[in-house]
Amino acid sequence: MNVQFAKATRLKARSDNSFSSQAYRTLSDLVYRHSRIRLGPDKKALVANRLRKRLQTLDPESYDDYCDLLQSLQDAEEVENLVDLISTNHTRFFREPEHFSFLTQRALPALVSELSATGAPLRLWSAAASSGEEPYTMAVAVAEYLRPFPKMEWQILATDISRRMLAAARQGIYSMDRVKPVPLEILKRYFQKGVGARAGVCRVKPELRDHLQFDRVNLFQAEYPVPSNLHVIFCRNVMIYFDLPSRALAVQRLTQHLAPGGYLVIGHSENLMGIPHGLHPVQQGVFQKT
Ligand SMILES: C[S@@+](CC[C@H](N)C(=O)[O-])C[C@H]1O[C@@H](n2cnc3c(N)ncnc32)[C@H](O)[C@@H]1O
Repeated sequence: MNVQFAKATRLKARSDNSFSSQAYRTLSDLVYRHSRIRLGPDKKALVANRLRKRLQTLDPESYDDYCDLLQSLQDAEEVENLVDLISTNHTRFFREPEHFSFLTQRALPALVSELSATGAPLRLWSAAASSGEEPYTMAVAVAEYLRPFPKMEWQILATDISRRMLAAARQGIYSMDRVKPVPLEILKRYFQKGVGARAGVCRVKPELRDHLQFDRVNLFQAEYPVPSNLHVIFCRNVMIYFDLPSRALAVQRLTQHLAPGGYLVIGHSENLMGIPHGLHPVQQGVFQKT
């Protein structure tokens, strides 16, 4: 029997009861310490499933051995791989579209008139950017709004804890299926359609991509390598994975990177209840630093 297959079979046999409770606790503690993502007991099967391929590559005897190895080696890179495998990266273009309407109808008119007086650039941050759909949608909204202001400088910082997602985001290549929410006119203006071997995908045009910078930032790392005078921060659909103290910490730290009058935008299923934030609520999911 092929070794790989034997291993896969062995793991498959263990898959419905993959970790001992102790090993799963070790693993979830490591994940929490690294990313503040809380893995409840209900996620055990999902985690085992997502880890199956990784175990086949690394070759430990069992899920419990993998956990022992993780703990004994204190290998930061492997914990990073683990977080990468188990985190949810679901996103899409124009997700929660009210936030992009808010940008173009309320935030940008005020910010652009203020900034054009000083010549300072407009700065936005997508702090859980996943595979890029969110920061590129922000970029499209800004580029469209700024068409009558060609001299205005602007930048979008796009960060995520996952290097794998950032690599995809940096490329800016999407299947035609993924760009379905993008209006046709916008698609034509800002995306190149693949031809020949690249048929079926499209790529964000360099003119738009050049306004984005991609970096790895864990919302719980000691310092954010990010300017502290940002005008808009999107941090959407990631705080739902954190517990209250972690959400409070993330909000407090993100707020420190907002310019006075700047906006923090969170997901529709998220809220700042129980978090001392000092921000002024503007509309669902949008808060302004006063
Ligand atoms: C569900 S996606 C949300 C993507 C996008 N913001 C949206 O709303 O469509 C959550 C993202 O948060 C990232 N993430 C999870 N924990 C993080 C952390 N501690 N720091 C930074 N990013 C994190 C994940 O890698 C994932 O790409």
